[in-house]
Amino acid sequence: MARILITSALPYINGIKHLGNLVGSQLPADLYARYCRARGHEVMFICATDEHGTPAELAAAKTGEPVADYCARMHQVQTDLAHGFRLSFDHYGRSSSPQNHRLTQHFAGRLRAAGLIAEVSEKQVYSPADGRFLPDRYIEGTCPNCGYERARGDQCENCTKQLDPTDLINPRSAISGATDLEVRETKHLYLRQSLMRDQLDRWLDSQTGWPILTTSIAKKWLHDGDGLRDRGITRDLDWGIPVKDGENDWPGMEGKVFYVWFDAPIEYIAATAEWAEAQGKDDAAWRRWWRTDEGADDVRYVQFMGKDNVPFHTLSFPATLMGSGEPWKLVDYIKSFNYLNYDGGQFSTSQGRGVFMDQALDLLPSDYWRWWLLSHAPESNDSEFTWENFQASVNKDLADVLGNFVSRVTKFCRSKFDEAVPEGGTWGDREKALEQALATRIAAYDRQMAAMEIRKSAAELRAIWVLGNEYLQEAAPWATFKTDPEAAAMQVRLALNLIRLYAVLSRPFIPDAAWSMMAALESEDWTWPEDVRAALTTLPAGHAFTVPEVLFAKITDDAREDWAARFAGARD
Ligand code: MF3
Ligand code: ZN
Repeated sequence: MARILITSALPYINGIKHLGNLVGSQLPADLYARYCRARGHEVMFICATDEHGTPAELAAAKTGEPVADYCARMHQVQTDLAHGFRLSFDHYGRSSSPQNHRLTQHFAGRLRAAGLIAEVSEKQVYSPADGRFLPDRYIEGTCPNCGYERARGDQCENCTKQLDPTDLINPRSAISGATDLEVRETKHLYLRQSLMRDQLDRWLDSQTGWPILTTSIAKKWLHDGDGLRDRGITRDLDWGIPVKDGENDWPGMEGKVFYVWFDAPIEYIAATAEWAEAQGKDDAAWRRWWRTDEGADDVRYVQFMGKDNVPFHTLSFPATLMGSGEPWKLVDYIKSFNYLNYDGGQFSTSQGRGVFMDQALDLLPSDYWRWWLLSHAPESNDSEFTWENFQASVNKDLADVLGNFVSRVTKFCRSKFDEAVPEGGTWGDREKALEQALATRIAAYDRQMAAMEIRKSAAELRAIWVLGNEYLQEAAPWATFKTDPEAAAMQVRLALNLIRLYAVLSRPFIPDAAWSMMAALESEDWTWPEDVRAALTTLPAGHAFTVPEVLFAKITDDAREDWAARFAGARD
């Protein structure tokens, strides 16, 4: 059995995530974590909220809360939603944790000692009225290109021109409106990534079998000039991790914090340390996942993320880890995703367009969403959510195929036999053929899941459900019963066992329904079906069960139309 470390890209703290965010990292990571556990591997599945940077400060300013309070509140909101979607993190941490402060400062110190940090003087806009430097988004003014009066320091929203704060006409502070802005010299730290080009190149070359989406983005940024430019890793903000060299102050860096993209990936490690603390374990417990000199050399580390995150995970974060000169565990496989679109356009957080996690759970239980999102994961291409497609998948796959099978078999058994697995009869050719077909499909499902081919896995699982329906249709125990009750008993016994098998196989996709199926069969045997014959005979004759509630309700046309209309505009 292997040890598998799984991280999902950390969602920003500033607001509730939409379904496109969810399927771009956390949900597929959860699928894989659940699968690995089901296969008996030792899994550490880590996520956290990404809490620093201007977006957090601005979001807090909007609600009028102190930013620390805002983050604590939103962390709880996101934690509850993660539970709602049954995301099975071993720990859901916070990038603002003391552990991340310590580790981020530690890495900065190591990088400095390795000569990989430069101190660079820059000119930046300072607002005496606000008593602070103003980063791009905190400055507004008139666009020199189109005359739009509310252009931001980094970009004009009206004509999309990229700007420098100093380009703006009549610049003013977006915080206070102050116009007495000055340009002052300020020092910042730069990570000298360019010095690490060869090392990164060699490392990327040594990674075989990564998805094309991942390697193409990594190589593009590595070679097309700009990607490995030395990057500023500090900011003039109040909220963030104060710049220190390990435990020690860093002269000249007073009042500065690390850039959010410097500390966020370090939180993968820090969150594992938070997990250890929460479990009452010592440091060795988390270090065995992260330090190759302390046990992590036999860990397989897999990351999940949207494609926009790939450069940070293939270049900047590895540069931090390698540059430290310490034996930190590097990623072994990066599973990245394209975008999910919403009904002819994009999901948009700023415009409130699409379905957000809280809204989704208000409409339907999480399994409905999990199934649709995972079976339509934007792997090789962008994909699109439409209400028609959602309705069709739920009604067909979940209600007609899986749900109907479970309900027909259990109800038929109750009415003709008893609420217990019936006795009598022996397998014939049809049963052996089914066993064969299942063995082939289950092996394929296992391969696709291991390869993180998410849509293909969903297709195999659906095909496995269909095999049961076809068997039932052909065997027709309700007809057999009239002439040969023993044979009907055997068919029903097999079908009941198949329900338990479905619970095991379906659990990574639809954990709640899987639990209901298992509970109805009054079993707790979640063993993976390596031996299909054994799996189909696990529940012996006489084993009691109960008919479960309807597993999946169909989505009516009225409900679909109502939801489509309700979600056509922006959320309030
Ligand atoms: N918060 C970032 C985003 O949503 C992802 C951060 S991933 C991390 O795009 F590794 F840096 F934490
Ligand atoms: Zn403009």
